[in-house]
Amino acid sequence: MRYSTILGIESSCDDTAVSVWKQGKILANITAGQQVHEQYGGVVPELASRAHQSHIVPVTDAALKAAGISIGEVDAIAFTLGPGLMGSLLVGINMAKGLAMALNKPMVGVDHLQAHVAALYIQTPAPAFPMLTLLVSGGHTQLVLVRSHMDMEVVGGTIDDAAGEAFDKAAKLMRLGYPGGPQIDMLAETGNPQAFRFPEARVPGLNMSFSGIKTSLLYLLRDEIGKNPEFLEQRLPDLCASYRHAVVHYLLAKTTEAIRIHKPSAIGLVGGVSANSLLRKSFWELGKKQGIPALIPDFEYCTDNAAMIATAGHYLLEAGITHGSDVLPFSRHSAV
Ligand code: KG4
Ligand code: ZN
Repeated sequence: MRYSTILGIESSCDDTAVSVWKQGKILANITAGQQVHEQYGGVVPELASRAHQSHIVPVTDAALKAAGISIGEVDAIAFTLGPGLMGSLLVGINMAKGLAMALNKPMVGVDHLQAHVAALYIQTPAPAFPMLTLLVSGGHTQLVLVRSHMDMEVVGGTIDDAAGEAFDKAAKLMRLGYPGGPQIDMLAETGNPQAFRFPEARVPGLNMSFSGIKTSLLYLLRDEIGKNPEFLEQRLPDLCASYRHAVVHYLLAKTTEAIRIHKPSAIGLVGGVSANSLLRKSFWELGKKQGIPALIPDFEYCTDNAAMIATAGHYLLEAGITHGSDVLPFSRHSAV
């Protein structure tokens, strides 16, 4: 092992997160969310970068304290290079640069999506490869064929909205807060998943589309609220359960097709939407049915976190990859 203690920094969207990785173990994984966006129903980039600015130092201190180490014990720094919001990424990158310079230690920039996949290695350091991973977050929905720890290829994905976006936009239509995924998930627990039917988009191969499902919810609400102004309040759990069922069923159908084509030795589920209780349960069952292990990280490693950044950083650093102080963030392009 080249570096035994790695500090991970994540700041790509609206969570400021810092972790301490030591010899394959996560000693600390601290995340500060940003309530400031709730009133706007979505992340406001300028407010996000300002909140990162005020959180980054206290969160770093908290992570070091929780890990019981001093900053001088850090051997390398891993940080999110992109994709994400430019201003937000810059806060994490500049923190990493400052620390690397002050400590005279190496740093490595990590692709946020590769890091979501690396979350699988926190609890399963040596999964069976090839592993087919369903990456479902607020900004991305991809099927990734993972051949070795950091060798991966996108074999399918959404052509429009991400699965998380489908939940967030639906929540907005149902006048729930942001982010909507957890609220729909919770309300769905007491609803009937067969109460309403939402059509699944027909997209060839392993690609997917989620923009239609949200539009069909929009039309359903418009028509039904026109007839009965109390419709939304009366049927909220049924709407959430049916919508969640439709999104999860679609994701599983595409994953099943990808398993048929690529014949993986394991399947993995990562990204913020993997916190969804129905998706987690159905994914376990899919693995069982297919006779291959289904890996799903613990909840704290599913949504944006810095433990996955430090873990991905470890594999890159082991491969001899480091970045100089001239490294720049990227907002869209993904190295995956
Ligand atoms: O990976 P993540 O934390 O951030 C991004 O990189 O996007 O994912 C956030 C997304 C949001 O769209 C949120 O609504 C969704 O994950 N999410 C959920 C659940 N928890 C978070 N979606 C459905 N069910 C959940 N329980
Ligand atoms: Zn993410």
